[in-house]
Amino acid sequence: MANYIYPIHHETLSKIDKEILLKQKAIAVWMIGLSGSGKSTLAKALEKVLHDQGYLTMLLDGDNLRGGINNNLGFSEEDRIENIRRAAETARLFVQCGIVTICSFISPTEKIREMAKRIIGEDCLEIYINAPLEICEERDVKGLYKKARKGELKNFTGIDSPFEAPTQPDLEIHTDLNSKDECLEMLVKFVLERVEKV
Ligand code: ADX
Repeated sequence: MANYIYPIHHETLSKIDKEILLKQKAIAVWMIGLSGSGKSTLAKALEKVLHDQGYLTMLLDGDNLRGGINNNLGFSEEDRIENIRRAAETARLFVQCGIVTICSFISPTEKIREMAKRIIGEDCLEIYINAPLEICEERDVKGLYKKARKGELKNFTGIDSPFEAPTQPDLEIHTDLNSKDECLEMLVKFVLERVEKV
């Protein structure tokens, strides 16, 4: 914590003021899973559905943030922690502003996910987008698994960097066992019940 800092949180408008203005409840929907599990696809589709139903949303995606606010970070354990710390702090700002904030990050370890939840607070739902490594590797949409197997890409999650499956997510969606539409339906239903217009 830096010295000589005087936060004014107690003097600013509160989350509830923003929620009343926007007529919605603000939460962070934190989507966890391997590269290729379907996180970003579902996150984008969820955002579209909520937007079409009149919700103000924000989508924070690992690949996007890594091109901007996190563009000085790599994939060491330390950098992933910093990546998620900044992502969670950013999510917190949007949630405080009354916005339904959808976050799509591998978030590979329990320690990282605990930190994100600690930063965001109680308004954070953990959603595990589950597809086995073999399936993600078979999909290999970005061609990164192939590169990682050849040793051209180091520290790749699931290959030579750990992924600890969440043990108690608020919701788990198996993208290998259900169609995209079925997965989206489950996700939308779960989220809508928690952001209901106020
Ligand atoms: S996290 O582990 O820090 O949560 P994040 O979700 O931001 O990761 O970024 C993951 C994305 O970065 C992947 O979808 C993939 O496109 C890209 N990527 C590049 N190198 C790696 C790597 N070594 N491990 C995992 N993803 C990588």
